[in-house]
Amino acid sequence: MSSAQRAARMSAERMVCELGEIENDFAIAVLEGLSKEKKSLPCRFFYDARGSELFEEITQLPEYYPTRTEAAILADHADEIAESIGDGGVLVEFGSGSSLKTEILLDRVAHHVTYIAIDVSETALAEAKARLGNRYPGLDVRTVVGDFSGYIEIPEDLSTRPMTGFFPGSTIGNLVPRDAKRLLAAFGRVLGRQSELIIGIDLKKDPRDLVNAYNDSAGVTAAFNLNLLTRINRELGGTIDEDGFRHEAIYDPREGRIEMHLVSTKDQTVEVCGRPFHFRSGETIHTENSYKYSLEEFLSLSMAASWKSEDVWTDADRKFSVHRLKWLKGS
Ligand code: SAH
Ligand code: AVI
Repeated sequence: MSSAQRAARMSAERMVCELGEIENDFAIAVLEGLSKEKKSLPCRFFYDARGSELFEEITQLPEYYPTRTEAAILADHADEIAESIGDGGVLVEFGSGSSLKTEILLDRVAHHVTYIAIDVSETALAEAKARLGNRYPGLDVRTVVGDFSGYIEIPEDLSTRPMTGFFPGSTIGNLVPRDAKRLLAAFGRVLGRQSELIIGIDLKKDPRDLVNAYNDSAGVTAAFNLNLLTRINRELGGTIDEDGFRHEAIYDPREGRIEMHLVSTKDQTVEVCGRPFHFRSGETIHTENSYKYSLEEFLSLSMAASWKSEDVWTDADRKFSVHRLKWLKGS
């Protein structure tokens, strides 16, 4: 490494300590995740500016059926959903990304709701806010950059209005079921009495279709997975050789989940924040789980989190489902 590269890396490491919560959170998560016996990284860190762009490309891939299937279900039932949101309501979206699917609902309710978009990706939120501002002049859009699993508070001026949560994309599937149940219960507490949640859930299906969806022929999902290493190198002064890792996506039928990994293609030692991490050839970093539910499994999970099922909609092939749930608790 040249002295200029070394100086750049040291300054990146110093910067990490001086940056805000999200970046520091990243440093802690990476150092912890790479120190484990089975190395892993939380999947929320995929979504830097490039990661959000790559995710949007994934949604257009022929193999990645969830986005277009869910959008079609939402379009088919948009009037019923819009009616349940009601006049003067607040639509709160968790992991809103590009907010493209949200337009299916906003086309019907934008003139009488406030929209709160919560996401870890600052760039995705900024782009969505600008686009929505043009498409729906007068819509009150509030964006919150942050982790939806952390502390979330509804702005005080909106807190007495009817709340509808929106959690599409089967993003809940990226959590292990125990954490998924906790997150659903936390959303209920944030949204409060009488609130509803519109949530998208990817369904169990032929494992070959699942593996293809996460192993696309154009290599976009591979680029999305490997971009995590680029982000570590850039933000945490990493020295990871990105060519020394390859993308892997496998379906574990016992867990009912797709697992994404970054597989080390050689014995190697990399540095992150000035600390060494050794990889054996074939050793992996587990970067994402994507759980697939049966309708019964999801209904039982949501019930355990105190959400009652009001409506369940699927496509004709039962690839994907959208649920309207009602919060059962008093607050
Ligand atoms: N809702 C969109 C995007 C889904 S991709 C759709 O259905 O197409 C998942 C989105 O959730 C990304 O935009 C990502 O940045 C965001 N995200 C992932 N984990 C998050 C977390 N813990 N907190 C907040 N946002 C998160
Ligand atoms: C956001 N999330 C639900 C996507 C999924 O399908 O698990 C993320 C993704 N990972 C690879 N492709 C898409």
